Amino acid sequence: MDITALMNRNFRALNGGLFESVTKADVGEGAGKLMARGVDIMAWADPFFPDPSIPPAVVEVMVDALRQGFPSHYSMPIGAADLRAELALKITRQTGLPIDPSRNVIVTPGSDSGLLYAMMPFIEPGDEVMVADPSYPSNFLNPVLLGGTVVKVPLDTAANYAFDIAAFEQRVTERTKLVVITHPNNPTTTVFRRKNLEELCAFIIRHNLVLVSDQAFEDHIFDGLEFVSPATLPGMWERTVTVCSISKGLGLSGLRIGYIYADDKIMDVLYGGAVNVLGAAATITSIGAVQALKETEYLRSLTERHERRRDLAYRTLSTIPGVRMHPSESGILSWLDVSQLGTSEEVAAYLLQEANVLVNAGSAYGEQGKGFLRIVTGVFADDTRAEAAFNRIKTALTKLAEQKSILAPI
Ligand SMILES: Cc1ncc(COP(=O)(O)O)c(C=O)c1O
Repeated sequence: MDITALMNRNFRALNGGLFESVTKADVGEGAGKLMARGVDIMAWADPFFPDPSIPPAVVEVMVDALRQGFPSHYSMPIGAADLRAELALKITRQTGLPIDPSRNVIVTPGSDSGLLYAMMPFIEPGDEVMVADPSYPSNFLNPVLLGGTVVKVPLDTAANYAFDIAAFEQRVTERTKLVVITHPNNPTTTVFRRKNLEELCAFIIRHNLVLVSDQAFEDHIFDGLEFVSPATLPGMWERTVTVCSISKGLGLSGLRIGYIYADDKIMDVLYGGAVNVLGAAATITSIGAVQALKETEYLRSLTERHERRRDLAYRTLSTIPGVRMHPSESGILSWLDVSQLGTSEEVAAYLLQEANVLVNAGSAYGEQGKGFLRIVTGVFADDTRAEAAFNRIKTALTKLAEQKSILAPI
């Protein structure tokens, strides 16, 4: 029999085999095999991977809690009360929004599940969802899993990947329900500017749409840029679902703690479906997350480390012949235009061969990622090891550029 014929058509096309693929942005077995061969993995947006990045105080509370035994029990399906209280403090500190921990925050097992859950209350079969391109690939897949259709909206490459409101206006229809943005953007690291966000939000309000704002990378912003959470803009609180995580900011991806903040009316349904859809986050990692969130000085120190690493990556990679890049504006990624050297896939495969590094083909992030590479330059705890990998990339790409008679960065 053909079991796939009995499947929901939105899921039928999913191919778990992707986890063997080296171009997929997520953790897969194929990459595990490469690591065993000594390849440096610079393709997972996982801060300091594979080195430990857990603060000693967090280890201590988790070990103590395990010894006492309580973590063998459930935590609340919407998130432990003390964890929601710490998250509310963080959100208010960052945005000024008066977040009620019992009404406006829900904990999710990582923000990947949070992103799907954020859309579930809104998307009905046939609804159109506008997703900025390039963007985090899950945001192209989630609407489809829910029976919606994705409408990719190109970002303005000439304006450092700002939203192009005319491009949104051209593509909006009667069926458009929702806009999804990743802010700061993955893969481009763009921190969308206040004015640009105000224009996008005016478009969203004009057409009575919902915004899902994926803010997994909001904690480390460089060069003193202002970070504006769209939920704080006039008229947006009641129509925005903001999805965040401690994975990138606190470098604690393995704890699997994400969170959503939103207005009471939206939260009523997210709380209502929490048991069915989310289950609950793990009790032991919720305890660790509470401690990690109290370490506000640690979070600040991580921004300094990431910004220093960004500078190191930019100094080395931006001077490669045939490469064009902007200094990253946030987080742990570098986004390189390598179109003069080959397709994304060709250059990524070449780097695996020649430089022993696994990086992401930019084409995985949308139409506008073609000809680009995403390199996770915030891997390894130690700058020296990172620098060695950057230098290997530079040597290999310089050799490729020479073969193509390209002598200078573009
Ligand atoms: C933009 C973006 N959002 C969300 C996630 C999900 O992260 P997590 O589930 O660890 O919170 C990722 C992970 O790579 C990401 O890059």
